[in-house]
Amino acid sequence: MAAFSLSQRARDAADQPISYLMAEALRNPGLISLAAGFVDSQSLPAAATARHMAELLAEPAAARAALQYGTTQGEPRLRQLLFEHLAKLDGVPIDRMPGSADDIVVTTGSQQLLHVLADLLVDPGDIVICGWPSYFVFTGALTAFGAATRAVDLDHAGMAPEALEATLRQLQHGGLLPRVKIVYVCSYHQNPTGLTLGEDRRPRILDIVRRFSDLAGHRILLVEDAAYRELTYDGTPPPSIRRYDTTGDHVALLQTFSKPFAPGLKAGYGLLPTGLVEHAILNKGGRDFGSSNLCQHLLGRVIASGDFDRHVQTLRGVYRAKRDAMLAALDRGFAGVEGVSWTRPTGGLYVWLTLPQAIDTGRHGPLFAHALRAGVLFVPGEYCYPPDPTRTVPRSTIRLSFGVTDPAGIADGIERLASAVRAVLP
Ligand SMILES: Cc1ncc(COP(=O)(O)O)c(C=O)c1O
Repeated sequence: MAAFSLSQRARDAADQPISYLMAEALRNPGLISLAAGFVDSQSLPAAATARHMAELLAEPAAARAALQYGTTQGEPRLRQLLFEHLAKLDGVPIDRMPGSADDIVVTTGSQQLLHVLADLLVDPGDIVICGWPSYFVFTGALTAFGAATRAVDLDHAGMAPEALEATLRQLQHGGLLPRVKIVYVCSYHQNPTGLTLGEDRRPRILDIVRRFSDLAGHRILLVEDAAYRELTYDGTPPPSIRRYDTTGDHVALLQTFSKPFAPGLKAGYGLLPTGLVEHAILNKGGRDFGSSNLCQHLLGRVIASGDFDRHVQTLRGVYRAKRDAMLAALDRGFAGVEGVSWTRPTGGLYVWLTLPQAIDTGRHGPLFAHALRAGVLFVPGEYCYPPDPTRTVPRSTIRLSFGVTDPAGIADGIERLASAVRAVLP
């Protein structure tokens, strides 16, 4: 039988490397997975969800409203609660918060909104600027849109404004500024490095995007992906970049219920610049004309009752213990090994490990095979670097996740990884 004639986009879509890693974890139940970005299973809010769902369905009028189709933009009461949530996180009184609940769009996970925004702005050959490394599911989707990604180095405080400016200046000199559509920043506990963008850098990055928008002749969208914002374990997280966007014109702030509550509900949302809201709704309308209305009614109750905030408090304790277990195990496992370093995140789910350059951490390299035999799985860092023709992908980095495994398993997994690393050291 003849093959289907796939669209160019389908032919260009790269295999998501994470599917191989997930399949490997499922095939080997004895394997300690430090790979998947899954959340902790034991603390998922089953009881609170069951209670709110039962109450919702027990009220006939409320149940019928929730079981009917909703609007494409999202349930109005939930959007109002989310607007208040964002104002509270930024410490801004609700009446001083630029924009309104009408600038919020609720989506099927924040991933859908990332996809919608790319679809709205990116033509093949357009440029998206992102961190080096970055969240690979988004950069993979960008590649499918035909985007050219240009990377900006990260240091201990995330994307450096000077490096972003230098990249934009270079593109300007090459006559490519008109093609720059999006600057993508994961501003809290970044996936994959765990790094948080420094507070002082936030207004500066916004200012650069504003200035280069003027030079480009169109508004460059600053996509602030704050998926891990609520999962902060030490101190108070800085205000969002959007907090400095006092006219609400440049930043799309994306958040999700997947990390701070339950990914099974697959609900995310974004506070968008006014000019984009209508387009985002039209685009989403063509996909699904609205995310699960039942989930949105449920989440409205979860937030209004205070259960969301209480759950986030619980999660902070759970993940802090896991993060501490991973950092302590790294300190022990790699003591005395030269050329090894790692990030010390204040939140999120990830630690970024850098090994000596001679060690190839790729799926087909010796370390990956050694680690599998030792019973531990990690994400090779090479997957996390967006394609950028001006750069060479480092081969000696690793993304470690402390989300799924319990503290004892994390300690065991790191010990196995450290012994695998020692085995392949030259
Ligand atoms: C940085 C980042 N952004 C967005 C998402 C999307 O999550 P969801 O679609 O479940 O909201 C993820 C998921 O892992 C992520 O790590």
